[in-house]
Amino acid sequence: MELMENAPYLDQLLDFLKGKEEWLPRSLTGRAVLVGSIAGVTVYLITKKRYNLPPGPRGLPLLGNLLEFRNASIYEKLTEWRAKYGPVVKFNIGHITIVGLNRIDVVMEAMVKRQADFAGRIQLYSTLLLSDGGRNIVLGDYSPTWKLHRKLATKALRHYMTGNHLDEGIERSLTKGIAKIKEMKGPFNPHDVVSLIVFNIINNICFNFTCEIRDNYFKDMLHILDTFLDDFGNGFLYNDIRDFCDALLATQEEACQEEDPDVMSQMSDRHITQTLGDIFGAGMDTSRHTLLWTLLTLAQHPDIQDKLHTEVDHVLGGREFPSVSDRSNLPYTEAVLHESMRLHSVVPSGIPHKTLCDTKVGGYDIPKGTTVIINHYALHHDPEQWTDPHTFNPDRFLDQNGKMATKPESWLPFSAGRRVCLGESVAKPELHLLLAGIMRHFKVSLPPGAKVNTEPRGGSFANIPQDYELTFESKV
Ligand code: HEM
Repeated sequence: MELMENAPYLDQLLDFLKGKEEWLPRSLTGRAVLVGSIAGVTVYLITKKRYNLPPGPRGLPLLGNLLEFRNASIYEKLTEWRAKYGPVVKFNIGHITIVGLNRIDVVMEAMVKRQADFAGRIQLYSTLLLSDGGRNIVLGDYSPTWKLHRKLATKALRHYMTGNHLDEGIERSLTKGIAKIKEMKGPFNPHDVVSLIVFNIINNICFNFTCEIRDNYFKDMLHILDTFLDDFGNGFLYNDIRDFCDALLATQEEACQEEDPDVMSQMSDRHITQTLGDIFGAGMDTSRHTLLWTLLTLAQHPDIQDKLHTEVDHVLGGREFPSVSDRSNLPYTEAVLHESMRLHSVVPSGIPHKTLCDTKVGGYDIPKGTTVIINHYALHHDPEQWTDPHTFNPDRFLDQNGKMATKPESWLPFSAGRRVCLGESVAKPELHLLLAGIMRHFKVSLPPGAKVNTEPRGGSFANIPQDYELTFESKV
């Protein structure tokens, strides 16, 4: 069929050349080159694949649609384009072709039904630099090494989640955080203390200890990662398995003992450092920004906060800290968290995927190598899926008995399929219990006359609240 479609080009070319013999090169070699070139172009046109690509805005040569993003983030533009082009939209940034998925049915079709096709990550100079040449999980392309690391990290996190590791981590972290809050006088920006609380949870997962951090928080984190391998080299961490890091080291040791060169080459110290970086990088910002949005939203909705206090105080009784076993009795707290994650999706455009082969979504062709973005913001504000999507209403997650109802399909903060967030099983209980623990101790409110700016900052890939101040009134 393609041969038939392209045949007119040949006829037109031959017609055009009739009577123009003087245009042709005189030498035999020149004529051979010309005929060869024409034959090459013809073969290209005949074999060139025709795709039924998704609709989208026209772009400028070289720049594509880049200029459209001067005053808007990717998720805002995609949401706007959804009205015009539908749930699957194609656009270009420079030479990179990007397809945005704006509705839950097409997201599930791509990420779950065709998960193997959409499991890649684009490899740019910047991502390769960040991931030490693709050695980490978040930015690594789909490969046997990525699979191995994802599997090991999942196993190590699962190990961490057994027993009472999480309860201990929550208590240690809240003890330090609550003490810091109590030191503060008057309204203050909770950014640092919330960061400290989350940092200590993640630090506890990876290294089994909590620490103090002040302004040099980032330096401390990097310092820990840098010095970790020195400590390992000195045999410092060769204890029993207490944390995620030990579990990774144990796997490396097993591979060495079995002298499995294949696994050993993929379990280098550089890989382990990257995996620890994955946990810090992916777990830290997402969790603290979720908690910061939730505290702000609760301060704006004292009635909802009152209901949350009633639940937490009733379930915890005289206890200061919640534990994993309390979770099923704290549905309202969980619903508040889910609603906060919906309203303020902290990873609004997800992490870009890449197609590993020619594939399809929503009836359109998606060529191999296309960058694909899930618009989590659009899923979480879809007026066809949510009543009053811009209103904060935790009740939408509860059934008539006040228990957590079945998850609404269009709630997808952790994504789905082969690249689903590796930390989902940690983040959910961690945030649930941290929120319950903070609410056990404090009532939060906005300082009198405070004007809250809920415009997020952070660009296309992170949704961060603006700086704000809260008053923490001690309850116990
Ligand atoms: C509120 C908390 C969190 C949210 C909303 C969140 C969300 C996400 C999202 C949207 C992705 C991209 C999935 C995709 O590519 O389709 C992701 C990936 C990832 N997340 Fe999370 N995350 C959270 C917490 C965590 C935590 C606590 C950890 C670690 C303990 C973690 C580890 C990871 C890793 C390693 C990946 C990369 C997975 C891969 O590429 O295969 N995340 N997360």
